[in-house]
Amino acid sequence: MELIKPLLSLDLPDIALFKKGKVRDVYELGDRLLFVATDRISAFDVVMQNGIPQKGRVLNMLSAFWFDFTEGLIENHMISVDIDRIISLEPALEPWREALSGRSMLVKKADPIPAECVVRGYISGSGWRDYQAGGMVCGIKLPEGLRQSEKLPDPVFTPSTKADSGHDVNISQERMKTEVGGNVFEFLKEKSIALYKKAAEYAESRGIIIADTKFEFGRVGDKIILMDEVFTPDSSRFWPMDDYLPGGPQKSFDKQFVRDYLDGLDWDKTPPGPELPEDIVLKTSEKYLQAYEILTGGKP
Ligand SMILES: Nc1ncnc2c1ncn2[C@@H]1O[C@H](COP(=O)(O)OP(=O)(O)OP(=O)(O)O)[C@@H](O)[C@H]1O
Ligand SMILES: [Mg+2]
Repeated sequence: MELIKPLLSLDLPDIALFKKGKVRDVYELGDRLLFVATDRISAFDVVMQNGIPQKGRVLNMLSAFWFDFTEGLIENHMISVDIDRIISLEPALEPWREALSGRSMLVKKADPIPAECVVRGYISGSGWRDYQAGGMVCGIKLPEGLRQSEKLPDPVFTPSTKADSGHDVNISQERMKTEVGGNVFEFLKEKSIALYKKAAEYAESRGIIIADTKFEFGRVGDKIILMDEVFTPDSSRFWPMDDYLPGGPQKSFDKQFVRDYLDGLDWDKTPPGPELPEDIVLKTSEKYLQAYEILTGGKP
């Protein structure tokens, strides 16, 4: 495999930083934002010391693929991932053309709606914990006797709060309704489930289970649009269909090598994250490229 040096961070000194996430750096350009997907990787919510070659590019181009795939269902924030077009709209980015190419998306800045719109097609993660504790997730009663990772009869909408720090907290649909208003709630719920169904069905036909996923929406003028990232392994659980076996946790399509390695370490899962060995880094990079190729049929 071609060795391309991973990019851990990129400073655009003359451009205002809007937000630095675990993986992406976001810059503000008037009424637009520039999302730069670095090659940072997090596991157990902690960023590792080293990056994964190609990961940023894969995540960026995969989001772009899904924004196109779903644009018939809802408008989204993407303006372009094409570096020539981005620079023609934002000439101040010219000095960083090469570093930005492939890993950047120029978007419309939106006014975020303060809820994480989660859809679950399978019961896992915090959904599984809540179900075990009381048979419900976000106030929705689920059938009895479900096994961990089992497919749900129908996908469920399980919103959570957008926590500035720490973990997102699942909230009831009722609470989201009072926070965003009944009409907006119904709109977001319907769109979220429709988006999940369309993408999950397509991904399953290609051998990847999207167990659950998270959307963010925002307002531009009087319209509500889909923003942030969509159906990437960072915003969703991707499981390889060939290994799917309900009754326990599933293998992660992208992060399993990293998790297995970390589980074998004496590390308490608090920052700073450890350094990953080269073979884990390379195998993980290949998984991201493979996911991209399976889903889009092309190379990022
Ligand atoms: N079009 C948009 N307009 C305005 N804000 C947006 C838009 N798209 C995404 N955002 C916001 O940009 C931010 C991106 O942050 P990012 O996801 O990188 O970090 P994070 O959510 O804080 O942490 P994590 O790395 O765990 O995801 C989020 O707060 C998201 O709501
Ligand atoms: Mg985020």
